[in-house]
Amino acid sequence: MQTLALYHLKGGVGKTAAAVNLAYLAARDGYPTLFWDLDPQGAGSWYLESAPGQTIDAAKLVKGKLAVGRLVRPTRFENLSLMPADFSLRYLDILLRKVQGQDALKRLLAPFREMFTLVVLDCPPSLSHLAANIFAAADAVAVPIVPSHLSVRAFEIVHQEYKALGHKPRRLHPFFSMVDRRRRLHNALLAETPKRLKRRMDAVIPYASVIEQMGEERAPLGAFAPRHPAAQAYESLWSDLRARMGEFA
Ligand SMILES: Nc1ncnc2c1ncn2[C@@H]1O[C@H](COP(=O)(O)OP(=O)(O)O)[C@@H](O)[C@H]1O
Ligand SMILES: [Mg+2]
Repeated sequence: MQTLALYHLKGGVGKTAAAVNLAYLAARDGYPTLFWDLDPQGAGSWYLESAPGQTIDAAKLVKGKLAVGRLVRPTRFENLSLMPADFSLRYLDILLRKVQGQDALKRLLAPFREMFTLVVLDCPPSLSHLAANIFAAADAVAVPIVPSHLSVRAFEIVHQEYKALGHKPRRLHPFFSMVDRRRRLHNALLAETPKRLKRRMDAVIPYASVIEQMGEERAPLGAFAPRHPAAQAYESLWSDLRARMGEFA
């Protein structure tokens, strides 16, 4: 089992859109996949869930008093399961802080080893104890960067923090997100590729209204517009990540 986190300290950069589409593509390729929605706003759950189920008590979850396997729900998509968000997750950071070390989230993932080959973590924006737990749990951290100087700077901070916590920066996988080719700055940043982004993935996610439509369709792009260039961009992102993460077992 491999764990992929869609993470950034910034919000509104396309983490959830990428997480949903990547999880869908992994499942379509036959990998039993779990989408774990760690964001109390629950956007990812909204896209994937057919009917709301049991609520999750984050406090019990962190204390290990919930059998995580029982919280997992099937989705309408073959091979794709969902660990839905719950409003109590807004305390996840405080709850994880009470547990020694940074491996609490990693330990929660252990039982899934038997059930899934890929876990996709859709993370809320943060640079806190929760982020440290996410870094420790994830084999790969994909970071969407909207081309702007501030975004590149924000990635720099993520990079520093990741390294400071003892992780290998080659497990960070930045990629450009919400790219509008009509904007001069977007084109300039893509062309110059700032130093920290030299290792970015080749795939570029365009700014496209079809991605916003996912909220109406309540489905990943591949399920309703598979031939759209934006869907193809997520396909490229998925193949970049597969190549970087190595074989799934
Ligand atoms: N490439 C894109 N093009 C256009 N709209 C997008 C794109 N990616 C995300 N969005 C929209 O922008 C908003 C924020 O995206 P989201 O994936 O939820 O970001 P995050 O999870 O980083 O907060 C959502 O309304 C989503 O539909
Ligand atoms: Mg999100």
